[in-house]
This record gives sequence, C-alpha cells and structure tokens, in this order.
Amino acid sequence: MRKKIVAGNWKMNPNYDEAIDLLNFLKDNIPTDHSGVDIIICPPFIYLIEAKKILNRQDIYVGAQNVSSFTNGAYTGEISAAMLKSININYTIIGHSERRQYFGEKEENFSKKIKLCLQEHITPIYCVGETLEQRNNGEQLKVVEKQISEALYNLSDDEIAKIIIAYEPVWAIGTGVNATPDQAQQMHVFIRELIAKKYNQTISQGIIILYGGSVKASNAKELFSMPDIDGGLIGGASLKGKEFTSIINIAMNI
Ligand code: 13P
Repeated sequence: MRKKIVAGNWKMNPNYDEAIDLLNFLKDNIPTDHSGVDIIICPPFIYLIEAKKILNRQDIYVGAQNVSSFTNGAYTGEISAAMLKSININYTIIGHSERRQYFGEKEENFSKKIKLCLQEHITPIYCVGETLEQRNNGEQLKVVEKQISEALYNLSDDEIAKIIIAYEPVWAIGTGVNATPDQAQQMHVFIRELIAKKYNQTISQGIIILYGGSVKASNAKELFSMPDIDGGLIGGASLKGKEFTSIINIAMNI
C-alpha cells in the first residue's frame, strides 16, 4: 500500500519572524504518531537550515521549492542539489507551474534538475497540470502526458520509482476552486496508466501522486479518500498552522 504524504509549499512567504513562529507551531502541534503519513515542509531557501533545526523531529521532512539545473560553479543566484544535500534536505519541488509561468522553465530544464537530485538522493516532487484554457479546449490529458514524457521518460525503472508526482491544475492553484475529487482522480489514474505503459504495473502502482490546488481542511477528506490520490501539495493553507495540522489529521484518519 502507498503511504500518504502531506506537503506544504510556502512559496515566497513569509518574513523571517513569521517563518520561525510557524515552524515552532508545527513542531509543537503536528501529532507525533502520524504513521502512514509523511510530512514535508518546503519553506524558502533562506529558512531551510532553521527549519531543519526547529523541526528537529525524525518524522517531519524539510524540502526545497526549487533547485538548479547546473551542478556547481558560476551560476549567480542558483542553489545546487549538492548544496541542498549538504544540509540534509531530502526533497525538492521541481516544475511547479509558477516556475513554468513566470520563469519560462521547460521540461528539458526539469529533466536535468531531476537527474541531479536523484544523484544526490534527493526526492523530486515533480509538478504537472493544465491551464484553464487547456482544460476548456479538452487538452488536459495531452498537456500532462507531454509534461510527464519529456521530463521523466529518460529515467530508469529504479529512478522513476523514486519520483513523487504532483498533479496541480493551474486553474485550481490559489483560486479557492479545487478540482473535484472525480476530476483529480481521473487525472491521477491517467498518470498511473502512462507510467504503467512506459515502465510497468508494479512501478505505476507504487508511485506516489499528490493533488495540489486549493486544498483546505474542508475539502481534504473527499480528495484524499480517492483511491489514486496519495495526499496533497498544499500552498496557501500550509501557511496557517492550525489549518495545515488539521489537514494532516484528516490524512491520518483516512
Ligand atoms: P494553493 O494550495 O494555494 O492553491 O497552492 C497549491 C500549490 O501551488 C502548491 O504547490
């Protein structure tokens, strides 16, 4: 059986004092017995070390939101996978739609990032998802297939088995309008079918696929109860300590 994951993506929030308060709240309020549910907190880079120190619990992982597609050297402003590993970061988000939309990043780039992370034993959380226009044109499956095939299909069986995929429809991110459980379930099944076709059934059934896009305590149960939704990648609600811990509690009780 696949484990559930609840991951928080803080994006470009908050300032230092608020970040420390939120980390302390999470340390004190995330239940210690959340077996079957992994928790990953992804704050901005500058808080990663502090987050590792404050969340000094074996059961809460800290992840980055991005990583360089270069190994090391003269790349001003970049953070490498090896640097993340050197401070014991185990996960990083790659390919978030905001990276695609505002920074012009493409699959070729994501593919390099994924390879570098795997070399450093960092688990990539690779995000895919269609825009509203693409969904209105009925192109969502084609779009997600392209995002998956171009960034992941060069991976070996061993490598693909280590990836987490997050389906985040762009129209659901930060809008308050989540995909319905059926819409999300359909896409998760489609992604699993792609992996089964390219790799095999065992890998496809083992791979963790998270849903992201306006997940809150009020809709987490119906989303996380779907058979192919293995938890959530949570933006806005992960900045509210109480709301985020409620979502963790919901995941624990499914
Ligand atoms: P929201 O939960 O704010 O919609 O953001 C989702 C997201 O982009 C997580 O990566």
